[in-house]
Amino acid sequence: MRKPLIAGNWKMNGSKELVESFGRAFTDIDLPSPLEVVIHPPFPYLDAAREAFANSAIELGAQTLNPLHSGARTGEVSGQMLKEFGVAYVLVGHSERRQLYREDDEQVYDRVIAALSVGIKPILCIGETLEERDAGRTEEVVLRQVGYVMARLEPEQRREMTLAYEPVWAIGTGRTATPEQAQQVMAAIRGYQAGFDRELAAGLRLLYGGSMNAANARELLAQQDIDGGLIGGASLKVDDFTAICQSAG
Ligand code: G3H
Repeated sequence: MRKPLIAGNWKMNGSKELVESFGRAFTDIDLPSPLEVVIHPPFPYLDAAREAFANSAIELGAQTLNPLHSGARTGEVSGQMLKEFGVAYVLVGHSERRQLYREDDEQVYDRVIAALSVGIKPILCIGETLEERDAGRTEEVVLRQVGYVMARLEPEQRREMTLAYEPVWAIGTGRTATPEQAQQVMAAIRGYQAGFDRELAAGLRLLYGGSMNAANARELLAQQDIDGGLIGGASLKVDDFTAICQSAG
């Protein structure tokens, strides 16, 4: 009943040529059904991506947005602007944004609201650092990040949300969480949500992210509470990303 989602976050990587090669590869491709595929290229490639993905199986995603619709915010991009480019999903609260750009839970919440207000679906990223895991605080940290946003949303807003659990120590390190580790946190997130709304929890899409690749995707995606993946490095190679999508069947 939960439609799997495979999202590729290119971060500050890629090129117009890469956009075009993904468009070609995902046109007339045989993918598992049901499955949603999203690519989050850097902002300057959104227009080219909209064109290249138009007849493909790929939906368009953005990597962040500013909480405001417009104004004096040099260098920032608003949800309204993203909407004009056909963006369907936006990442919010990625650990790189939380750590490098000091986005706290409140700012993450503001971005979620900004996305929802223009009809873009947020993918809320959460995850613990290695230090927090070693201190036995994984669930406390992750559920705080989830609760800060989800508990303040209206029921119909919650239904637009996708959550991506990305242990910070697994991002870009080649050190994937084991399927058991990932499943344990996913089950905790779903259980927490069920405390508010059982129906919502049952339908809530939970993605895993952190060194997911063509070799480990199938086992991770087979876990009961893992409904898809948020892929960084491996989403920059057409063959690897295609193979991950095929694993979601
Ligand atoms: O947004 C994607 C995640 O940060 C995962 O990145 O697959 O390179 O570890 P990674």
